[in-house]
Amino acid sequence: MTTSPAETGTTRPEPEYFTRFSLSQRIEHAVLMVTFTILAVTGLAQRFYSMGWAEWIILNLGGIEYTRLIHRGFGFLFTASVLYHLVYVTHSLLWRHAKPSMLPTLKDARDVVTTLRYSLGFTDKPPQFGRYDYRQKFEYWGIIFGGAIIILSGFFLMFPLVVTRFLPGQFIAAAVEFHGWEATLAVLTIIVWHTYDTIFKPVIFPMDTSIFTGKISRERMIEEHPLEYAELMGQQSGPTPPPQEEPAPERAAMPGPSVGM
Ligand code: HEM
Ligand code: HEM
Repeated sequence: MTTSPAETGTTRPEPEYFTRFSLSQRIEHAVLMVTFTILAVTGLAQRFYSMGWAEWIILNLGGIEYTRLIHRGFGFLFTASVLYHLVYVTHSLLWRHAKPSMLPTLKDARDVVTTLRYSLGFTDKPPQFGRYDYRQKFEYWGIIFGGAIIILSGFFLMFPLVVTRFLPGQFIAAAVEFHGWEATLAVLTIIVWHTYDTIFKPVIFPMDTSIFTGKISRERMIEEHPLEYAELMGQQSGPTPPPQEEPAPERAAMPGPSVGM
C-alpha cells in the first residue's frame, strides 16, 4: 500500500534506484546471451564455411565435427532455457497473478504512430511508456517466435531420419532454409537493433547495465518509463509523485527470457 505524506505526516526520500530485473531474470538473460552468441558463431561458421573467418573459427574449434557438436549441445541448452522461460511465465501469470507487461496492447500501436509524428515534427510530445515500450516488446516476441522456428527446424536437422519416417524429405531441405535464414535474421536484429538500444544509443552509451545489476536510476525511470514510475509511486501520472511507503510488488514482465516481474 502506498500512503501519501499528508496521511503519514512524514516525507520519505524517493529511492535513487529501482529494481528493474530480478536475479532470475538477470540469470535468464545471461544464459540467453551466452547460448545465443555461441550458437550464432558455430552456426554461421557452418553456413559460410568457405569464408576466411568461418574457416578460422572451425579450425580453432577443432574441426567441423567439434563445431557441429558444440552447436548441437548449445542447441539443447537454448531449447531448455526457452522452455524454462515459458513455464516460468505461465506459472507467474496463473499462480502469482503477475502482470503480463510484455503483452502488446492498443497503446503500443498508438505509441508507434506518436513516435512517427514526434520524429517528423508533427507533435512536440513524445509517447510515454510503461514498463516496456513497443520496441522492447517487438524484440521479445521476435525472439519467442523466431526461437520457435529455429528450435523446430534445428531438431529437424538433428534427427532427419526420424522426421522422414513421418514427413516427406522436402521438409529437411525446407528446415535448412528456415533455420539458416531465421538465424541470420535473429543475429542481425540483435547486432543492429539490440546493441544499438543497449550500448550505442547516445543517451545509453557506454552501456545499459540494468540487465546485469538489476537496477535502474530514478532519472531513467522518469525519462524512459514514466507510466511505470507513476504507478510505482502510487499515482496515475505526474512528474512529482509522493514517496514510496513499501517496496513495489513483483510484477510480471519479461526482460529477455523471463517474466514474473
Ligand atoms: C539462435 C540460435 C541458433 C542459431 C543462430 C543457429 C544457426 C545455425 C546456422 C546458421 C546453421 C547453418 C545452416 C546452413 O548450413 O545453412 C545451423 C545449423 C544447424 N543448427 Fe542451428 N542455430 C541456432 C539454434 C539451434 C538449435 C536450438 C538447434 C537444435 C535444436 C540447432 C541445430 C542445428 C543443426 C542440427 C544444424 C545442422 C548442422 C549440424 O548438423 O550440426 N540450432 N544453425
Ligand atoms: C552485450 C550484449 C547485451 C547487452 C548489453 C544487453 C542488454 C540488455 C538490457 C539492458 C536489456 C533490458 C532492456 C530493458 O530495460 O527492458 C535487455 C533485454 C533483452 N535482451 Fe539483451 N543484451 C545483450 C545481449 C543480448 C543477446 C545476445 C540476446 C539474445 C537474444 C538478448 C536478448 C534480450 C531480450 C529478448 C531482451 C528483452 C527485450 C528488451 O527489453 O529489449 N540480449 N538486454
